[in-house]
Amino acid sequence: MQKTALITGATSGLGYDFVQLFAQDGYRLVLVARDGQKLEDIKRSLKHVEVITVAKDLSAPHAASEVFAELEERQIAVDVLVNNAGFGLMGLFDELDIQKQINMIQLNIAALTELTYYALKHMKARNSGRIMNVASTAAFQPGPMMSVYYATKAYVLSFSEALVEELAGTAITVTTLCPGPTQTNFGAVANVEGTKMFSAAMPSNIVAKQGYQALMAGKRVIITGGMNRAGALAAKFLPRSWAAKMAKYVAGAK
Ligand SMILES: NC(=O)c1ccc[n+]([C@@H]2O[C@H](COP(=O)([O-])OP(=O)(O)OC[C@H]3O[C@@H](n4cnc5c(N)ncnc54)[C@H](OP(=O)(O)O)[C@@H]3O)[C@@H](O)[C@H]2O)c1
Repeated sequence: MQKTALITGATSGLGYDFVQLFAQDGYRLVLVARDGQKLEDIKRSLKHVEVITVAKDLSAPHAASEVFAELEERQIAVDVLVNNAGFGLMGLFDELDIQKQINMIQLNIAALTELTYYALKHMKARNSGRIMNVASTAAFQPGPMMSVYYATKAYVLSFSEALVEELAGTAITVTTLCPGPTQTNFGAVANVEGTKMFSAAMPSNIVAKQGYQALMAGKRVIITGGMNRAGALAAKFLPRSWAAKMAKYVAGAK
C-alpha cells in the first residue's frame, strides 16, 4: 500500500530536499508551508507521485489541528511525519522583536508538538509510523545571541527523546535530526550569514540524505557532520557556562 509522508517547511532548504527523497521512494506527499505558489510549483515538478499541498502559517495558533482536520476530511492517514519547518533569529533577546520570537516558539515548539500529537493518533491506530523532528546542534547548549532559538531546539530534542521511551515496544519510531550550520535559506532569515558558526555550513542535500537514512533506520538521534558531533560531545562534558560562552563566540563575526 502506498505510504503518505507529511513534510512541513517543504518549499526550501532541508524540507525541499526531504521532498525529493520521499518522492524518489514513491511516497504520497502532503506538503505544508506558507507560500502556496511555491508549493504548487513543487507539486507540478513531481509528476510521478501524488502531492497534496496545504498552504498554512504554522505559527498561527491551531494551524496544526487545521492541517489534520483537512487530511481527515480527505481520509488521508499519515505514515511518516517530518516536522521540519522552523526558523531562528540572531540578536540580543531584548532587542529582537518580541512577536517574532513568540512566533518562533509557536512554530518550532507548539506546531511541532501538535502535529506530532495528531500524527501519533493515526500511527497508534495502525501500530506503525515514523516521525522525524528537526532540532539542531543548538539543542545541546544555551545559545547567547540566539537564546530563544537554541531553547526551542533543546525542547525539540528533549520532547522527541521522551517519546522514544513512551513508544518503546511499538512499531513507531521518533528520530531527532540535529544539523549544524547548513546551506539553506535559514542563514538569511536568521541573519547569521558571515558569522564564525556559518563559515563551514554543510550542503543541504547531504544533511537531508543522512537524516532520511536515520529516519528509515529508526535511529534515535542523528547529528550531521564530524565537527558538529564533536561540538555536541564537548557541550555534554563542559560546564554549561563554558558551553554558552563557546556558543556566543561562534555567533560572532568571522
Ligand atoms: N540551515 C541550518 O543551518 C539549520 C541548522 C540546524 C537546524 N536547522 C533547522 O532545519 C529546519 C529547516 O530549516 P532550513 O534550514 O531548511 O531553512 P529554510 O530554507 O529557511 O526553510 C524553512 C522552511 O520552513 C517554512 N516555514 C517557515 N516559517 C513557516 C511558518 N510560519 N509556517 C509554515 N512553514 C514555515 C518555509 O516555507 P515558507 O516560507 O513558504 O513558509 C521553508 O519551507 C528548521 O527547523 C531549522 O531550525 C537548520
